[in-house]
This record gives sequence, structure tokens and C-alpha cells, in this order.
Amino acid sequence: GPEGKLQLVQRHVRAFPDFPKKGILFRDICPILKSPAALTAVTDLFEEHVRSRQLQVDLIVGLDARGFLFGPLLAQRLGVGFVLVRKKGKLPGATVSVAYDLEYGTAEVEIQEDAVAPGQKVLIIDDLLATGGTLLAACELMKKQQADIQGCMVVIELRDLKGADRLKPHIFSLLQY
Ligand code: PRP
Ligand code: ADE
Repeated sequence: GPEGKLQLVQRHVRAFPDFPKKGILFRDICPILKSPAALTAVTDLFEEHVRSRQLQVDLIVGLDARGFLFGPLLAQRLGVGFVLVRKKGKLPGATVSVAYDLEYGTAEVEIQEDAVAPGQKVLIIDDLLATGGTLLAACELMKKQQADIQGCMVVIELRDLKGADRLKPHIFSLLQY
């Protein structure tokens, strides 16, 4: 059942104190990738959410870098394509970019201009929601392309940081800390 799958996923997340800097409790999803059963459980739970909510999805949009680990698996299950949102300077051809704030300074994400057509229904995927800055920037990119955002999905949501409050689309998370 879904409870067993969630527990399986939860057992494959580790916490590292003070990484990458003091005061941050880093949630490491590498054990999920190392376990075929846990990775299948993540994909099953994402797929079950899409199907039970009857979400209409034309494209899965994944965030650099850890969104790339989960997004294509779900896209294959749904029989749709996968689009990469990359950190600036990595994509060839014409691109659209959005700057966003980090704790210190700013970063920029971008997609290829022809990646998403106006009106296409997209679901945005990442491994983890913290402050929400990254997902917010991805949503801005999708708005620039006039995509129809169906929601955002993450494996892990760090509730204390209230990232979901900054985001307009519905956030679906498997695990909350
Ligand atoms: C991490 C994580 C999310 C983002 C969440 O990525 O994978 O993408 O931070 O943080 P936020 O909600 O505060 O924006 P990171 O920028 O460390 O890059 P990586 O995936 O390339 O490791
Ligand atoms: N990205 C932002 N905050 C994070 C955390 N606490 N663990 C893993 N990835 C993160």
C-alpha cells in the first residue's frame, strides 16, 4: 500500500548536520537512488498522485540537478516528455532566464526558448523544497512561456522554511520535515 511505499522512501533519506555550512541540516536523497525499490516507490507515489488527482500533463519540467533524477522516470510512466530547467550557461540555442535570490547573492535558471509551447500543461519536479526560491524561479520561467502550471512535486518539503507559502501552484510532497 501507499503507507509502505512512503516508509520505504523515508528509510532512504539521510540527514547530515552542518552541510554545506554550519546550521544547515542537509537531507541526502542519494540512498533513494542507490535502491531500485525506493526509487520505484518514489515514482509510484508521484504517478499515483497525478492519476488520483486526474492531473492533465503534457510535459514534466525538472530542476537542475536533483530534479533530473526523478523527473524523467515519472515522464516515462505518464508517456510525456521531460524538459530541463538548468542553471545559467548550460543550454545551447535561444534561452529564457529568470534570476532568483539565494541566501547570499543571486542565481539564474534558464530553459530553451522552444522547450514549452504556450498553453502546454506542465508539472514541475524537484527533490526538495526549502525556501522555495528555486521552484518560484521555475514557475516564473513557465509563466514567461505561457505554460499552464498544473502543480509542483517534491520528494521532501522542509516545512519550517514555509517555501509553499511563496508559491502559487499546489505543492505535493512525499515527506515533510
Ligand atoms: C537544492 C535542491 C533544490 C533547492 C531548494 O538545490 O535540490 O533545487 O536547493 O532550495 P530553495 O527551496 O531554498 O530554493 P541546489 O541549489 O543546492 O543545487 P543542486 O540540485 O545542483 O545540488
Ligand atoms: N537544498 C536546500 N536546503 C537543503 C537541505 N536542507 N538539504 C538538502 N538540500 C537542500
